[in-house]
Amino acid sequence: MTPVLQNREGSVLTLTLNRVDKKNSLTADMYAALATALQEAGQDDSLKVVLLQGHETVFSAGNDIADFLQQPPASEESSVFRFLRGIATFPKPLLASVCGPAVGVGTTMLFHCDLVYAGDNAAFSMPFVNLGLCPEAASSLLAVQLMGYHRAAEALLMGEPFQVDEALEMGLVSRVLPPTEANAYAQAQAQKIASKPLSSLMETKRLMKANQTPAVLACMQAEGKSFGRMLKEPAAIEAFSAFMEKRKPVFK
Ligand code: COA
Repeated sequence: MTPVLQNREGSVLTLTLNRVDKKNSLTADMYAALATALQEAGQDDSLKVVLLQGHETVFSAGNDIADFLQQPPASEESSVFRFLRGIATFPKPLLASVCGPAVGVGTTMLFHCDLVYAGDNAAFSMPFVNLGLCPEAASSLLAVQLMGYHRAAEALLMGEPFQVDEALEMGLVSRVLPPTEANAYAQAQAQKIASKPLSSLMETKRLMKANQTPAVLACMQAEGKSFGRMLKEPAAIEAFSAFMEKRKPVFK
């Protein structure tokens, strides 16, 4: 089974996470497929919009923990960092449709999307501390900007999930729909955007992001250094082993 499906309809490219048996957790190969698809879509003049979506029951459980243990990202050129830079700098409109759990990067990637549509079953979480890790995808910057410091601290220091009504209120999500309708609605919105001139779409996005992008990339780089170091430390090793052994972690 192809874990990232690519489907083109007119000038909209839809990337579907398709690994539902593992809750759409993301392996290095999936990050590579997503990073390459985004890079090519950015350069293809006949494409105007990219839509990221999962299944109506699950968006993504974040990094595949087993895969991360086996092949941790070793450099800035690793596929996960290529993907993160790709979504942070994607020059055309990037939409997402999110239903069910969106864990870790399943939530943090949404900070980089221009429009996010959600099923009413969506639940967002950034449980990096529970895994002995630290934020990634510039979430230490973007969560604070979006949520305010104290709500971001609750999400990032406690790793507690937040529900779709809160995501809607803070502006992370643009509209909430029944899960069976979310992907189709997002596709219709993507087609609507794709009927507009590409040059205007790109220039508008460039101007909206111009001040922010250097700070986002610098934050991602700093987080990536800490994340890479912490992956090898005892807390993450214990958390990951506990997940694989289906037990609660014990942090000394
Ligand atoms: N990495 C690897 N495998 C994962 C995974 C992940 N992040 N998330 C889920 N899976 C696997 C489970 O191990 C299980 O595999 P199995 O059937 O071989 O035992 C399968 O996907 C189904 O997961 P399960 O936990 O039984 O589903 P659920 O519906 O009870 O819960 C989640 C769904 C997403 C809430 C839960 O799987 C979860 O919390 N996952 C971990 C999230 C996480 O910590 N991600 C890392 C962020 S950096």
